[in-house]
Amino acid sequence: MLLQEICVNMRRKFFKTEIFVLLAVGIPSLLFILWEDQNNQLVLEEIEEPSPERLADNNTIDSPAVKIEWKSSCKANYSVENISGFSDLPPHIKDFLIYRHCRSFPIIIDAPSKCGGPSASKGVFLLLAIKSSPGNYERRAVIRQTWGAEETYGTAKVRRIFISGISKANMEVKRMNKLLKIESQKFGDILQWDFQDTFFNLTLKQLLFHQWLDENCPGANFIFNGDDDVFVNTFNVIAFSQGLGEHGADKHLYVGQLIANVGPIRESQSKYYVPVQVTTSDSYPRYCGGGGILMSRFTCLSISNQSKSIELFPIDDVYLGMCLEKAGLVPASHMGMRTVGVKVPSDTLDSFDPCYYRELLMVHRFVPYEMIVMWNAIQDSKLDCGQKHAIYIGV
Ligand SMILES: *[C@@H]1O[C@H](CO)[C@@H](O)[C@H](O)[C@H]1NC(C)=O
Ligand SMILES: *[C@@H]1O[C@H](CO)[C@@H](O)[C@H](O)[C@H]1NC(C)=O
Ligand SMILES: *[C@@H]1O[C@H](CO)[C@@H](O)[C@H](O)[C@H]1NC(C)=O
Ligand SMILES: *[C@@H]1O[C@H](CO)[C@@H](O)[C@H](O)[C@H]1NC(C)=O
Ligand SMILES: *[C@@H]1O[C@H](CO)[C@@H](O)[C@H](O)[C@H]1NC(C)=O
Repeated sequence: MLLQEICVNMRRKFFKTEIFVLLAVGIPSLLFILWEDQNNQLVLEEIEEPSPERLADNNTIDSPAVKIEWKSSCKANYSVENISGFSDLPPHIKDFLIYRHCRSFPIIIDAPSKCGGPSASKGVFLLLAIKSSPGNYERRAVIRQTWGAEETYGTAKVRRIFISGISKANMEVKRMNKLLKIESQKFGDILQWDFQDTFFNLTLKQLLFHQWLDENCPGANFIFNGDDDVFVNTFNVIAFSQGLGEHGADKHLYVGQLIANVGPIRESQSKYYVPVQVTTSDSYPRYCGGGGILMSRFTCLSISNQSKSIELFPIDDVYLGMCLEKAGLVPASHMGMRTVGVKVPSDTLDSFDPCYYRELLMVHRFVPYEMIVMWNAIQDSKLDCGQKHAIYIGV
């Protein structure tokens, strides 16, 4: 079924819901040093170079409409230039349309034994799959030390993987690829594909991850799929997942912050601008905000199956909603998933109070040092929370 047909079925009353109330405790992040071990001997190996075509391109910022044929087998589709109004679209949207059909890209850095191989992967209780752009090194470093640590909580084995493309700034491609290679050698937690890591390519990132998961880690019971600027209360995520019972992983589970009754933003200045040339539908299916979503093995596989016949859509969390809808599954909200942050009862209380985070599964958005402080605080047995409870922002 084509995207347009799916969307037509979903026309319904349309409300504008403001969801971008971000609680940013905006203090500049501390510089984090990854290599704590001074004597650590890292050997820089020669790594694959980006294709010469890309290096030859002088554009260092977002200029994706530049017509370059990658070595990749996927050829640009210039027929889209005939679509009415195409020439007036912003460059990144033109680019999306030209490469919309491209789904397969070479993997640059793999981690095939992350879950111990396909058959042993049932031993993984929770896989943390974190979308991270190459430059977000500090965020990865802190996640490894905090909520993303590969530990076993009771009987629940946790594994972590960062999902990345290549830097969108051509000048940085080489050094960023090297950085990821080093991180991969040291931590074995990087997946990198040879496509530009841009906002409109996040759906591609998601699809490539699903392919990887199907091949390398199909048995993982639960998958937390999120951004690298969220704080996850891993203890709570595990307790919640375990609470679903012995066969919880084989049932439908897709929870996050539910977004309903919204549709494409047609203002060309918006980051989320989606013109009629991409979809004519005025509404999106129900979906969960992409900052953090917890899903079961069953649901992950259902999404992967459905995605094969759904045309790419530039907004990744909406695309997942489309896959769910086609599978006949519904996304759900969970009070503990806050992609818009936490609101405390009064202005005089600190919104960073760990008591509020003790009850949550996940909160957007944290800078690296805050993750360290909060991760320690929620585990502090001396923390006395009395009657304090988080009040959630309604959306
Ligand atoms: C890159 O810039 C140099 C110097 O400005 C120019 O000679 C060269 O043709 C440019 N290359 C491309 C691919 O645009
Ligand atoms: C665009 O449309 C014209 C007229 O129908 C056609 O001749 C041309 O081949 C098309 N261009 C592409 C790239 O498909
Ligand atoms: C190229 O774009 C045209 C116009 O949108 C579309 O009909 C055609 O299916 C596309 N080709 C591929 C390979 O996706
Ligand atoms: C997505 O990545 C491909 C491969 O690098 C690139 O050609 C394309 O421009 C990117 N698309 C967007 C919308 O950034
Ligand atoms: C996904 O597709 C595979 C292969 O077609 C099938 O065996 C499996 O039952 C499907 N699973 C779900 C959850 O849709």
